Amino acid sequence: MNDRFLRACRREEVDCTPVWLMRQAGRYMEEYMAIRRRYSFLEMCKIPEVACEVTLQPVEKLGVDAAILFADILLPVEGMGLKLEFAKDEGPVIHNPVRTEKDVENLRIIDPEEDTGYVMAAIALIRRELAGKVPLIGFSGAPFTLASYMIEGGGPRDYKNCKKMMWQAPDLWHRLMKKIAKVVLLYLKAQIKAGAQAVQMFDSWVGALSPEDYREYVLPYSRYVLEGLKEEGVPVIHFANNASSMLELVAEAGGDVIGVDWRIDLDKAWERIGYDRAIQGNLDPMALFAPPKVIREKVKRILERAGNRPGHIFNLGHGIHKETPVENVIALVEAVHELSRR
Ligand code: CP3
Repeated sequence: MNDRFLRACRREEVDCTPVWLMRQAGRYMEEYMAIRRRYSFLEMCKIPEVACEVTLQPVEKLGVDAAILFADILLPVEGMGLKLEFAKDEGPVIHNPVRTEKDVENLRIIDPEEDTGYVMAAIALIRRELAGKVPLIGFSGAPFTLASYMIEGGGPRDYKNCKKMMWQAPDLWHRLMKKIAKVVLLYLKAQIKAGAQAVQMFDSWVGALSPEDYREYVLPYSRYVLEGLKEEGVPVIHFANNASSMLELVAEAGGDVIGVDWRIDLDKAWERIGYDRAIQGNLDPMALFAPPKVIREKVKRILERAGNRPGHIFNLGHGIHKETPVENVIALVEAVHELSRR
């Protein structure tokens, strides 16, 4: 079994640096599109056999060192009582966003086995199909990123409604965040029970906040989830996008591995996070549009910044773009393995 991903999460020695890519399953791959033409995105998430097949595609095609469950961060909001749709070319839409006291009160704490049983079934199936080839990562959105979708009703643009609630009705904000954090913890625990060997919490939109607001309105809820996961004994990756102004706070919230984007050099990020944590990152996803020779050069520089220190997991700084040439992604994975061979 290839366990270099799990070893790196635990900061153990590895034969070469493990690599996987956020959003590694998706539209840039023709094998994905062949299935996507037959099902809607939500159907793909909800049919365990389909979710399993799509999860395995990048493992086979790219040679990455981990599989990530095919699902979406927004799936649990359906069980909380929200009407979720993935509109064509628009991304996620929530038709009944959370704005008032009554909206917050009406949100249900999900039962992950009941409300997202299809996710747990997919995990069990994927583990069986992987048969130990590479580890499986489960994931969830972080409380802030989920709150921003739930309040804005879709991909946040200016975070107006979200910040209005935060500052005009802080008590309501805190009640909402407490509920979401509970859901995230239950959901991730259920994924681990179903067979996820590591989990990642995505705080994709947290870069919209000042460090001060992060500390007051977000950090306690991320910490609640990350602390609560400790007893599960699997590695937890805490990815915070666009957060180089507050990496210390992100690390303070918790996580065995801190995921960083490309807006900061990896060595500087690691120094600030502390060497008692592993680090994941941090190639600009758009670099995959560069020629393979340039990609290789960029990989080399990131590896140099990691300096062969145990505990580096190579990844992009955010999700892969849907038009990415797949041959460049294959070249990236090869370059990471080859240039980091110990
Ligand atoms: O990494 C993987 O391969 C696992 C699958 C995965 C998806 N979404 C599949 C997906 C993961 C880990 C996610 C997480 C996710 N979803 C995040 C956090 C990561 C990040 O990018 O910041 C966020 C913010 C979402 C919400 C979301 N879902 C958006 C904004 C979109 C539309 C984006 C787009 O590219 O159009 C989705 C839809 C989505 N999630 C797709 C996939 C493969 C595209 C669906 C399709 O085929 O049309």
